[in-house]
This record gives sequence, C-alpha cells and structure tokens, in this order.
Amino acid sequence: EQIEKNNFDHFMLKEIYEQPSAITDTYRGRLLADEGIIRMAGVDDNLERFLNAKRILIVACGTSWHAGLVAEYIFEDLARIPVEVEYASEFRYRNPIINSDDVVIAISQSGETADTMAAIKLAKEKGAFVFGVCNVVGSSISRETHAGAYTHAGPEIGVASTKAFTTQITVLTLIALKLAKAKGSISNTDFHMHLQELETIPQKIEVALESNAHIKEVAFKYKDARNCLYLGRGFNFPVALEGALKLKEISYIHAEGYPAAEMKHGPIALIDEEMPVVVIATRKGHYEKVVSNIQEIKSRQGKIIGIVTEGDTSVRDLADHVIEIPDTIESLTPLLTTIPLQLLSYHIAVMLGKNVDQPRNLAKSVTVE
Ligand code: G6P
Repeated sequence: EQIEKNNFDHFMLKEIYEQPSAITDTYRGRLLADEGIIRMAGVDDNLERFLNAKRILIVACGTSWHAGLVAEYIFEDLARIPVEVEYASEFRYRNPIINSDDVVIAISQSGETADTMAAIKLAKEKGAFVFGVCNVVGSSISRETHAGAYTHAGPEIGVASTKAFTTQITVLTLIALKLAKAKGSISNTDFHMHLQELETIPQKIEVALESNAHIKEVAFKYKDARNCLYLGRGFNFPVALEGALKLKEISYIHAEGYPAAEMKHGPIALIDEEMPVVVIATRKGHYEKVVSNIQEIKSRQGKIIGIVTEGDTSVRDLADHVIEIPDTIESLTPLLTTIPLQLLSYHIAVMLGKNVDQPRNLAKSVTVE
C-alpha cells in the first residue's frame, strides 16, 4: 500500500498533489492551444444537440454537484446557455420538466451513483440528450449516457474527492469554451486567452501547493474549532461549499459554505472570536465587495483566513492569515482556490487523528438510494 501511496502518508494527499498531472491528462489530445482548437469527440459528434439546447440541466451528487455549480457560472458566462444544477436525488422524485431539446449533463467520478443513474434514465425517457462526465472508464453511467467525456484523473482512492473535482471542472470548462466558440458568444481574443491560460493551470497548481507548510501551520491554529464558515462569491461560491464539505467529511468539524453576501442574512449571527471564517478573496471577481464582507467579520472578532491572489495587500491587512494563489482569469480561479482548501482540511483531519482516506459513515461510491 505504501508503494501505491507513492510515499505520501495518505491517498488523499497523494491525490491532491497529483492534480497538476491529472489536469494535464484531462487536456491531453483535447486542448490544442496554439492552433486554437478544442477537440472532444463526444461534443463534436453531437454539436447540433448542444447548440440547439434551450438550456442545460446538470445532475450530480456530492462533490460532483459542486463541480456542476462551478460549471453553471462558466457555461452561462462563456457560452450564454442557461444552466440549472440539480441534486440527482431531488430531480428524480420531483416530476421535473424535461424537454426533448434539453441537454442533460450527468457528472460522476465513480459513474456508479444510484441517484445520478436514476436521473439519467428519467431524462432519457423524456427524450433529452444525456452527456456523461465520468472518471471511471466503462462505468455504468458512462455506458448509460448517449455520449460523454472522461476526466482521465486516474484512480481516486481517498473517499473525499479532490483530483476528480478539479478535472471535472476542467472538462466542463473545455466544453463551455468549445460551445462558446461555435456559438460566437466569445471573441477570438478571449477564446485564445482562455486556452493559453488553461495550459498554465497545472504549473500554477504546483505553485499553490508550495504553500503546504504554511497551510499546515494555519491548520494547527484551528484544528480545535467546533465550527467553521467558508465564504466565496461568483465562480468561487461553489468552491466555498466544496471547502466546507471537505472539512466536514474528514475532520468531522461542522462547516458551512455560504455566498459571502448572504452571510448577513443568517451566519453573521454565529460570528465571534471562536469562529474561523475562510474567505475566498481573489483579486478578480467582486474583490471590493468581498473585502467589505471581511471587514464585517473582523468587526465581530471572527478569525479570518483569506485565500488571496499573490501580492495582495488589502486582505492581508485585515485577515489573521492569508494563503496566496497565483493570478489567473476569473473563470479559472476555482481550479486554484480549491487547492489550499483541500490541504487545510487534510492537515486538520490528520492532526485530529482521523481516518483521512476512509472517514466514518462515508463511502466512495453510493450505489444505493
Ligand atoms: C460519495 C462520495 C463523494 C462523491 C459523491 C458522488 O458521497 O463520498 O466524494 O462526491 O458520492 O459520487 P460520484 O462518484 O457520483 O461523483
């Protein structure tokens, strides 16, 4: 097992560190940045279905559902197609309205999640075109869908999903860019800029991983917290949800993710000197607004851990700790902001002596309702 872990203490840590190479594998043969081409057979062969879609419905569970939420922002921003993101378990029992010109995207690492499978079957019965984004090759969901794209993240053993999440976002970004280009909703300059920037992401994740020792120190300070709040806006709101989920899953500390501006409608009541608040405050995307949210936390003595763009000074002045990530374009920030949040929950769980790779009560794939 130690060999399989490649000398990392846990599979989760190994998989966190594999993200640069996993994302490179996701791009391979698909992203031809110099030529300005994205090649994805499953989308190319069904391009008309995608382009004629009045809306895209995304169904998934758990971390895959969070990837779907990130995709909602990306598809709407770049491809200007309305997107709805659904928990598969709710969708299947809601008598949902599904039209034959809808495109349904099902996201699943394992390709075996029972609720997601049931949602796919329902969508197919109603005549929708169903596209799968799976990691496990030949899995049930990849066989049940009309077409799809694999994430090619390699086996994910840790129950808490890490590299599956970032590679799902990568695949969904490639699809959104491809559709944006085909629809003409993105300018040529912007399209090329996105492709070039996507290519730099693995190297930027390497840089983000260099903060590991610092993140471990931050983890030590907050390992005994009873609660933790994660805030983000825009593309990084779903990352806040995912950060909170990671902490809950493996450390059993109660955590909540919230859109930063929504804090004043409830969670702000919880903030005192005992409450760590992780705020994603990258320089792109509502930066000033997030800084003012941070001021509100500070005035209530909350402890602030800011995830910031390198070189940031405004948040540094207010926060108790800052963790830097490299700069990138706004729609790609989730691929970087996720990294410190994974490491933070990993270190807290290890310090608390929890079973990081196999947390209590959780399963890697949930094949029952
Ligand atoms: C379980 C796993 C999660 C995962 C979810 C959905 O709850 O513990 O990590 O996100 O199932 O799984 P899927 O394989 O469909 O992505």
